[in-house]
Amino acid sequence: MNLALKNRFLCFFICLTILSLFLCSVSLEAEEALVKQTKGDGNWVERWKPIEMFRWWDPAHYFEPDNKVQGVFEAEKCVTCHTVVTPGITNEWKKSTHSFAGVTCDKCHGSDHQKIEMPAPDDCAECHPEQVKDFKSEKETDNSSHARAFHANGVDEGLQGNKQQPETAGFALRNAIENKCDSCHFRHRFDAAEARQPEACSYCHNGPGHRETEYYNTSAHGAITKIDGDNWDWDKPLKVGNYRAPTCAYCHMYKGTHNTVENAVYANKGVQEEVDSKAKEFVEKRKAWLNICNDCHSTRFASAYLRDADETVKVSFAKVKEAKTIIEELQKSGRLDPMPKHLPSSPDERNRGDLGGRLNNVSVIEREFIDMNNYHTETIFPSVFHMSVNLQTNEFGTYKQDQSLARIKAEASKLGLLKVLEEKVGAKYEEYDFWKVVEFPNFLKVVK
Ligand code: HEC
Ligand code: HEC
Ligand code: HEC
Ligand code: HEC
Ligand code: HEC
Ligand code: HEC
Ligand code: HEC
Repeated sequence: MNLALKNRFLCFFICLTILSLFLCSVSLEAEEALVKQTKGDGNWVERWKPIEMFRWWDPAHYFEPDNKVQGVFEAEKCVTCHTVVTPGITNEWKKSTHSFAGVTCDKCHGSDHQKIEMPAPDDCAECHPEQVKDFKSEKETDNSSHARAFHANGVDEGLQGNKQQPETAGFALRNAIENKCDSCHFRHRFDAAEARQPEACSYCHNGPGHRETEYYNTSAHGAITKIDGDNWDWDKPLKVGNYRAPTCAYCHMYKGTHNTVENAVYANKGVQEEVDSKAKEFVEKRKAWLNICNDCHSTRFASAYLRDADETVKVSFAKVKEAKTIIEELQKSGRLDPMPKHLPSSPDERNRGDLGGRLNNVSVIEREFIDMNNYHTETIFPSVFHMSVNLQTNEFGTYKQDQSLARIKAEASKLGLLKVLEEKVGAKYEEYDFWKVVEFPNFLKVVK
């Protein structure tokens, strides 16, 4: 046995011993409570506690090393021991550009094992300042975005406002994209080629509220990528001439920008307010979109498509307005059951606006409006802007929106008829008491 081989064996043996010691202790010891807390401004901020996984999902605030392994190690030692301790991670790292460029474990995690760090964007910024700057610049717009996701959706509102903590784990993982750079280039390969493919976005951007994958898959762009994508060289940057059809990143991270919302006209506002895409503030953004389309299409073709799409969105808002007017009339004439002024306050009140947002303990017609506004109308703008051929009109989108509007009208007629009957027979209707008690998802009762 030569010396190098002997050394390796010795190392392997040491690692195994440490590993078994470690595994014994970890299984017995109860997890320490996480004490640090990102202060949000949700309604239940005082009751809110981070879950254990926040150590990795918001490492800058919550990560603490567990102190099981002692020592300050050189790069090679990390690799040797971790080839045994975490073989999957070490294998991936060995195949990565980082490994070839000499970016060893300690460059990202530190060398002192008792002070091991979990890298957040600021740690990557040492070597990739441009991407981190772009990424953070998303905070300069009002849009919900990657750089604001955890706070906007998680800490400040969602987690504290609406749900019990254990119900929100998947949601928190989705929103953790704010706090780490490994959401699209999976660790420890950190590969740009992977991030360029739609699947790197799709595992988050699917399902109710964010069906972009479904829209894309039912577009010509998605179809071509599926049919022909295996033949493409994904190592090439997202620029003219390199791809036959656009992927998510081609359109949203054009030429490598890490700000995915810089061109957004509707994004996130789609359900909140009507947007005039011709307004001054949007002219440059629309030009930027056309510039991307123009890699493959004529400007005339692309701008006609986007203008038509604007009209589709306009119609969808006209219907929302119609529904809103009907309900506001009912509120004014005191015909809603229950009337909003008789309801106890609710943690989701903040999201409520004048109508919409509040999901629990509302009249059936208001609830229908919320579904119409927040879910059905919300699918119309992104389906048409992703060139989906079916989802805009069938199953979701306008189909469901029309259904909601019809139900709202029917319910309004019924309430009108009841009013006439009440007056005719001289009956006096009192609201049921059950409306005045609301059970929140954390089983906290509030009585009015
Ligand atoms: C002698 C063996 C050994 C050496 C050398 C070693 N580690 Fe570890 N390391 C471990 C063990 C054991 C764990 C716990 C693994 C587990 O939880 O399954 C660990 C855990 C980690 C974790 C995960 C922490 C967490 O809580 O998620 C990181 C990151 C890490 N090591 C990085 C390093 C780096 C960087 C070096 C070199 C500076 C290094 N390790 C050297 C044994 C070692
Ligand atoms: C380019 C920076 C970088 C390098 C180099 C790197 N890591 Fe990591 N590592 C990360 C990031 C980012 C995370 C995830 C942080 C998070 O989830 O908040 C991570 C997480 C981990 C984890 C915990 C998560 C898990 O899945 O168990 C371990 C263990 C780990 N790294 C070990 C290593 C080892 C061993 C090496 C060297 C072979 C290494 N890392 C090299 C960036 C790096
Ligand atoms: C010590 C410097 C250093 C740190 C820290 C570092 N990187 Fe890198 N990274 C490099 C070098 C060098 C390259 C290869 C040359 C290049 O593309 O710039 C690279 C390449 C990359 C690539 C492109 C790889 C490819 O094959 O397409 C990605 C993605 C990446 N890094 C992400 C990260 C992330 C995320 C972090 C933080 C978790 C990070 N890096 C931390 C130095 C670093
Ligand atoms: C780990 C989950 C995750 C991954 C992966 C991910 N995103 Fe996101 N994305 C989010 C979250 C969370 C938001 C915040 C808005 C929301 O709640 O939908 C968001 C927002 C966006 C927005 C802005 C939407 C708006 O309403 O303003 C765009 C555009 C976007 N992502 C594109 C992409 C693209 C392109 C990719 C892949 C290259 C990608 N995302 C990968 C989770 C993810
Ligand atoms: C929403 C998905 C997504 C997130 C989140 C993301 N990246 Fe990227 N990253 C990409 C895509 C797509 C590319 C390829 C861009 C191109 O082709 O020009 C890329 C490319 C890179 C490259 C290689 C650049 C080059 O020219 O080779 C680096 C370095 C990088 N990203 C670092 C980061 C860092 C640091 C973060 C955290 C702030 C991060 N990325 C977060 C999708 C993402
Ligand atoms: C052909 C270009 C193109 C492709 C490909 C594309 N998008 Fe989009 N995307 C758009 C346009 C245009 C908008 C509307 C932007 C605006 O607000 O003006 C949009 C909007 C969005 C939004 C905001 C939706 C909302 O409800 O707020 C998200 C998120 C998004 N895209 C993610 C994705 C994902 C994920 C993929 C891949 C599955 C993808 N996009 C593929 C062009 C594209
Ligand atoms: C990287 C090239 C590329 C980019 C960028 C691109 N497309 Fe396409 N697009 C295609 C290809 C290829 C087809 C398939 C043509 C066919 O149907 O035969 C297509 C199909 C379409 C279709 C449906 C087919 C048709 O003939 O009507 C529409 C609409 C469309 N694109 C609009 C856009 C818009 C708008 C943008 C910019 C937001 C855009 N595309 C960006 C390549 C691209």
